[in-house]
Amino acid sequence: MKFYTLKNDQKLPAIGLGTWKSEPGKVGEAVIEAIKSGYRHIDCAAVYGNEAEVGEALKTAFAQGLVAREDLWITSKLWNNAHESDKVIPALQKTLKDLQLDYLDLYLIHWPVAFKADVGFASKADEFLTPEEAPIIETWKKMEEAYNKGFVKSIGVSNFSLKKLKSLLVDATLPPEVNQVELHPLLHQEELLEFCNNNSIILTGYSPLGSGDRSQEMKKDDEPNLLENEVISKIAMAHDCSPAQVLISWHLSRGTSVIPKSTNPKRIKENLDSYKIELTEKDLQQIKTLDKGYRYVDATFFEVPGGPYKNIYDE
Ligand code: A2P
Repeated sequence: MKFYTLKNDQKLPAIGLGTWKSEPGKVGEAVIEAIKSGYRHIDCAAVYGNEAEVGEALKTAFAQGLVAREDLWITSKLWNNAHESDKVIPALQKTLKDLQLDYLDLYLIHWPVAFKADVGFASKADEFLTPEEAPIIETWKKMEEAYNKGFVKSIGVSNFSLKKLKSLLVDATLPPEVNQVELHPLLHQEELLEFCNNNSIILTGYSPLGSGDRSQEMKKDDEPNLLENEVISKIAMAHDCSPAQVLISWHLSRGTSVIPKSTNPKRIKENLDSYKIELTEKDLQQIKTLDKGYRYVDATFFEVPGGPYKNIYDE
């Protein structure tokens, strides 16, 4: 297994199990299967609504001696309705309680978007807090406090554009260790990757397989199917592996970590085995031609009429 060493010397396993969209009733089994298969990195978030079940699975895994806590990397994320200074630590404590853990390996600000405290998912302008009402730097100071108190071993962000990341770096006392963003062959984000490399920030890619299991409302009618992409399929055939394995292996060749989601035991294992595939220079050149800046998660769901957030990715 490949690891990335962060600025704080923590070692992030390159491939993690994604749990976004993993259904209640299935996610716990998936976590156990993943740990049995050799995964040492589980990606969670409060908003996925399944952390309590993940916590039960972790408890079982530790009790059965499948893995020791210190050998497992657990990430979670602060939801948008807990950005205010007095909400950050309580939200983290809720996540720790649900996951039945004393500490997280990594805690991320899920989005550079803030909701009012009692709002699960804002759909009207008055359900948001403006960036002036809930400045990211104030939220970040609380993330730093969580780190200093030992609740989390590393802190970072998610869905931050280059512009927002640069701005955070100017004001932060502790720089973020990770930025988790959408990444796949249709969305390379080269400029962001180069900046992160130069600043020792690890990029983690979500939706590496195109997240075909998103709800219908989140999907566009004419979405490209990454798993059926012709270039990817040909490369997969040449390596005698699956398209998913090519998509995952591509991350390792770029130095990004990656969190494919599956609740299927066979695919969970298949995805981890991607580390065995070494893409050639020619494969990488071909994949380069696929970059269209295409986003499956375009964040327009935060752009409501009269609301404070527009063009969240600053594109
Ligand atoms: P399943 O959970 O039934 O395996 P992403 O990681 O981009 O969000 O994509 C997740 C989607 O990809 C889910 O529908 C998941 O289904 C599917 N998936 C996960 N691994 C594989 C694989 N190896 N081959 C094909 N589909 C996969």
